[in-house]
Amino acid sequence: MGSGIALTGATHGIRAVVIDINEDQLERAKSYHKKQLDRSVSKERMTQEEADTALSHLSYVSSMEEASDADWAVEAATENIDVKKSIFKQMFDVFGETVVLATNTSSISITDLASAVPKAAHRVIGMHFFNPVPVMKLVEVIKGKQTAEKTTNATIALSEQMGKTPVPANDFAGFVSNRVLMPMINEAFHAWSDGVAEPEAIDSIMKLGCAFPMGPLRLADYIGLDVCRDIMMVMYTGLDENPKYLPSNKLIELVEQGHLGDKSSQGVYTY
Ligand code: 3HC
Repeated sequence: MGSGIALTGATHGIRAVVIDINEDQLERAKSYHKKQLDRSVSKERMTQEEADTALSHLSYVSSMEEASDADWAVEAATENIDVKKSIFKQMFDVFGETVVLATNTSSISITDLASAVPKAAHRVIGMHFFNPVPVMKLVEVIKGKQTAEKTTNATIALSEQMGKTPVPANDFAGFVSNRVLMPMINEAFHAWSDGVAEPEAIDSIMKLGCAFPMGPLRLADYIGLDVCRDIMMVMYTGLDENPKYLPSNKLIELVEQGHLGDKSSQGVYTY
């Protein structure tokens, strides 16, 4: 998602630096950006000059220090609180003391994440984008207990500058989007494993009957089955261990087999 966030910034006049410790991910981000901009030119949504300008706004580095002059940071790492907390500590050390430290977390408590950087808790906020970021209009904006009003207002303004519609949600595990979406996806796995229907039929029924652009199982592959499982677990632990948030065995099984969806070329479906 980080590469989608960076591309959206770059096409809206914002200089964006993609940071990843994994060089392969940086290469993937670079080729994704080039491909999307070429497509926009060929579809006449953008002139070649505009695409070149957007490309010139993008850079790719493998250490945070190389982007230390940034005005804003959006963490978009894996949905694991320990990983995110350690990145937040690093962001606190590297970036200037007025920089907003935003997180694209799908489900983890903003207040909890902010506890990793107590001196900067007023600058920590949830800025939750949706896949594919250049297409989806929403940014779910989540304040932590100590998030300053100034931080919230600046996040709303930046989201709008990026062509998005910011909508507020309170700091509960899963916020609104995944509190509603993920149990529905999880239920589709239950329906499959109970033999209610095969994946293709489940997806067709939800597409044709409920006007979903993708069926829930196809969407799970698109999001990443590991991400879906992790979000369910964050909601399970964060919402009083309510068993309705336990990931289905079928979902867990696929993840344990390394079938993660589009990114591993195999999930519910083969790609
Ligand atoms: N980056 C940029 N643009 C993309 C893209 C990507 N990764 N994927 C698709 N697009 C663009 C295409 O370029 C195309 O535009 P164009 O034809 O004008 O160039 C447009 O989107 C439509 O794409 P396609 O014609 O290839 O295919 P579809 O019409 O099937 O649309 C889709 C693809 C937009 C992904 C659509 O299927 C969709 O909306 N799916 C549901 C997505 C969704 O629910 N996302 C939310 C996931 S939840 C989440 O992200 C939160 C997290 O916390 C889990």
